[in-house]
Amino acid sequence: MFVIAVQAEKGGVGKTTTAVSLAYILAEEHKARVLLIDADQQGNASQLVQRYDPEHSGTVDVLEGNREITEAALPVTLERFRKDYYFDILTANSYLMNTNADILQDTVQDQVHRLRKALHAARGWYDYVVIDCGLLMDMAVLNAMVAADMWIVPMRPGGLEADAVANAEERLEELRQLNPDLLAIGLLVAAGANKKHAEVYEWLARETRLGAIPAVIPRGIIGETYTAARMPLPAYRPRCKISDAYRQVARYVAEAARVAAKKRKTGEGE
Ligand SMILES: Nc1ncnc2c1ncn2[C@@H]1O[C@H](COP(=O)(O)OP(=O)(O)O)[C@@H](O)[C@H]1O
Ligand SMILES: [Mg+2]
Repeated sequence: MFVIAVQAEKGGVGKTTTAVSLAYILAEEHKARVLLIDADQQGNASQLVQRYDPEHSGTVDVLEGNREITEAALPVTLERFRKDYYFDILTANSYLMNTNADILQDTVQDQVHRLRKALHAARGWYDYVVIDCGLLMDMAVLNAMVAADMWIVPMRPGGLEADAVANAEERLEELRQLNPDLLAIGLLVAAGANKKHAEVYEWLARETRLGAIPAVIPRGIIGETYTAARMPLPAYRPRCKISDAYRQVARYVAEAARVAAKKRKTGEGE
């Protein structure tokens, strides 16, 4: 099992689009067993795959310790255009806000390893877990970061990208105290491909502790409008530049997962 958390301390940078696209491609094209976890109280990922429920949240149930992941996960059928199940989801809704407060106040039980433990118990069920995080480092997101093997930070190149990267690097230092092996990697979401983006990408890859995924997610009209269709972007428009770029991201993630699994095996053998 390889766990990817998609998080950035900015709204509207493409976190949810990235998480849902990645889950979809890994399940549909890589034929992997995938769990998508919505860890944002806005529930956008849940809405996008038509699983949003204002009354029930699988993520809340798991974080509160009331249910195991295998009981709380719902299958995403996307049956409007295909019959098969593609991936499972733990959905979120605004109750996640209360859960954050509950965890913060709970000084008896563990606060940050809840998701990690729950995923460990479900490790035989999934090849990949993709977590869509909100922009605040709340308890749900902290649990995601502690459970993750890889942290993907979507970012837009622009005047503020240096700040965003500096913040992420600072966070990474703190998070590695809890999760020493956490890989962190930036993903550019940018209009068109130009020299400036190539420079930002080079800089990310070379100069920051984050590194960069060798793909730029282009901004475009499909990205702006696909959410109305309530499906993952690569399901809505399989043949477009954005879907192709997310396929590159999925290949990168699959390779990282393969390397991590190999490392784990040799580690066990020692
Ligand atoms: N590649 C893209 N090009 C254009 N618009 C995009 C792209 N990716 C996402 N968007 C749009 O930007 C908004 C925010 O995207 P979202 O993935 O929800 O970001 P976040 O989760 O970081 O808030 C949405 O309205 C979405 O349609
Ligand atoms: Mg979002």
